[in-house]
Amino acid sequence: MESESSRRLIRRRIAIFASLTLFALVCVGVVLWMTGTQARASIGGPFALTDQRGKPVTDADYRGKLMLVYFGYTYCPDVCPTTLSTIANALNALKPAERAQVAPMFITVDPERDTAQTMADYVTNFAPDLVGLTGTPDQIAKVEREYHVYAAKVPAADGSYSMDHSSIIYLMGKDGRFRAIVDAGAPAGKIDEAIRANL
Ligand code: NI
Repeated sequence: MESESSRRLIRRRIAIFASLTLFALVCVGVVLWMTGTQARASIGGPFALTDQRGKPVTDADYRGKLMLVYFGYTYCPDVCPTTLSTIANALNALKPAERAQVAPMFITVDPERDTAQTMADYVTNFAPDLVGLTGTPDQIAKVEREYHVYAAKVPAADGSYSMDHSSIIYLMGKDGRFRAIVDAGAPAGKIDEAIRANL
């Protein structure tokens, strides 16, 4: 009798321990899922900007395409042209049917100097359909915040300035939601991998 009841007690303890462990695992899972969802949800957002033809555009105009978004500025001496060349190579390596589903865009962090005309002259150096986006300082500040872009003016000795800025390529889904980031220094193949995984 005694061993029967102690066995029952042990079984009950094991059952309690198992359910507590399961509960804890579920809690950890829920927290991880929520953190992941929030991190994803917090990159990107609606924008109203002006394209290189001087036409007002919003993020909604690109629904149904993957938005490949890079922030920089046309006076950038090194990183921006290099990154845009890598993006161009990545786009050229896609099959036409894949290529047609991608809207590459370059958003300026220097709206003071990067007018629509400046953007128009610049983007054609890289890809015929690269969209160059500028806007008012407020519009640019808003889209920078949404994409967590860092950009700051660095005065030069000659009275001009350069822009210190983060260098990340964002891939947004056909629904406009964040899909992936690719480091600007990554090879073109990495960009294509991200694109193909989200077509
Ligand atoms: Ni740059």
